[in-house]
Amino acid sequence: MDRIVVTGGRELNGTIPIAGAKNACLALMPATLLTDEPLTLSNAPRLADIDTMTLLLRALGAEVSRLDEGRVIAMSSHALSSHRAEYDIVRRMRASILVLGPLLAREGVAEVSLPGGCAIGARPVDLHLQALEAMGAEIDLVEGYVHARAPRGGLRGARIRFPFVSVGATENTLMAATLARGTTVIENAAREPEIVDLARCLTAMGARIEGAGTDTITVEGVDRLHGATHSVIIDRIELGTYMIAPAITGGTVRFPGARRDILGAFIDKLEEAGVAVDDIEGGLAVTRRGDRARAVEVVTAPYPGFPTDLQAQMMALLATADGVSTLEERIFENRFMHAPELMRMGAKIDVHGGTARVTGVERLKGAPVMATDLRASVSLILAGLGAEGETVVSRVYHLDRGYERLEEKLGACGAAIERIGE
Ligand code: EPZ
Repeated sequence: MDRIVVTGGRELNGTIPIAGAKNACLALMPATLLTDEPLTLSNAPRLADIDTMTLLLRALGAEVSRLDEGRVIAMSSHALSSHRAEYDIVRRMRASILVLGPLLAREGVAEVSLPGGCAIGARPVDLHLQALEAMGAEIDLVEGYVHARAPRGGLRGARIRFPFVSVGATENTLMAATLARGTTVIENAAREPEIVDLARCLTAMGARIEGAGTDTITVEGVDRLHGATHSVIIDRIELGTYMIAPAITGGTVRFPGARRDILGAFIDKLEEAGVAVDDIEGGLAVTRRGDRARAVEVVTAPYPGFPTDLQAQMMALLATADGVSTLEERIFENRFMHAPELMRMGAKIDVHGGTARVTGVERLKGAPVMATDLRASVSLILAGLGAEGETVVSRVYHLDRGYERLEEKLGACGAAIERIGE
């Protein structure tokens, strides 16, 4: 298994290109199941999770070609051969559940393995199922699989109010609603930029959607959707991750194509921590103001709040900030696995329930570390960039799920980072 070795202490200066958003692409790909015409996505990221979704769609009978070195995904679902998403694929990636709504809407029937829990929490899919039931689907759980069947004549539009915000449940419901009979109103919908991107693509396919990006989305069902070509939005979590790098090491890094509006509260917190985020032509540039960042209080929340997917990376920054910071995790119950690893590097962190108290130290020290999820792993790389000596991060396959060419991107800005095979 590969490891990544980071030798800390180098200032970062340069430009980092940001890929298309993993989490947008994972919702956009299943949209192919809604139409028998081709759907083509450009600006796709080249990541292990995209390979997994490719496998899943192919297993359902969709044709999926990766062109232009994987940047373009050309899909066609003119003849589906299966409506069953097997455990073997779903257990590898929870986003597999996003085939449920489209399959059910198009085929009238779907069997999708329940994903099960994962390292960051239990992550049930009850809201996805309740929404589809409200649209008339009959749902049974059979031997670990969700068996869903649409009523005769197809899914019906419904008024659905989610008790709390769920990105995946909003996406599944939105896709299913495009082909339902009548009007669907989704209240307390997720407002993430990835939802807006999905709605843009569905609209290009002929769907009638209003309100994406607000907490109420209205969908008028249509009889059929057609093909489209869509460019995937940039990855705000990859962007936020790399914005933290110069905040830890010093230096200035430019991000072409970066937009403030997709970063929500993250950008405010970064600025509050003493990091300058400047508008440059066609993008943003990030520079740390003083010698050390300043302590801040962070509470994760659905967009436009501070994203849970940047909490671990922010902790890496705050580990060496001046003062005592608090990070409250409100989305997932077990998302502090990076804390004990950062502590092995000398960070002072107390975790009580969903809150971590971080007392900034002047400098971390390199150590061998590992983590059990994607964002936790990258937070250790970031911490290593600022630490004294060598940090060796194992279980690199987590990183490959969400960051393409990480070593290359950071290395181009002056980081001493390399991947070594075992
Ligand atoms: C999406 O997961 C992202 N994944 C996650 O990205 C991200 O952390 C999360 O949204 C929150 O922003 C993709 O888009 C593929 P949720 P999702 O449904 O849709 C609970 C990353 O690192 N819940 O918004 O699964 C759930 O357990 C990742 O890239 C239910 O209880 O998240 C969680 O506590 C990991 N029942 C909360 O809601 C449900 O039916 C929010 O989850 C659905 C969710």
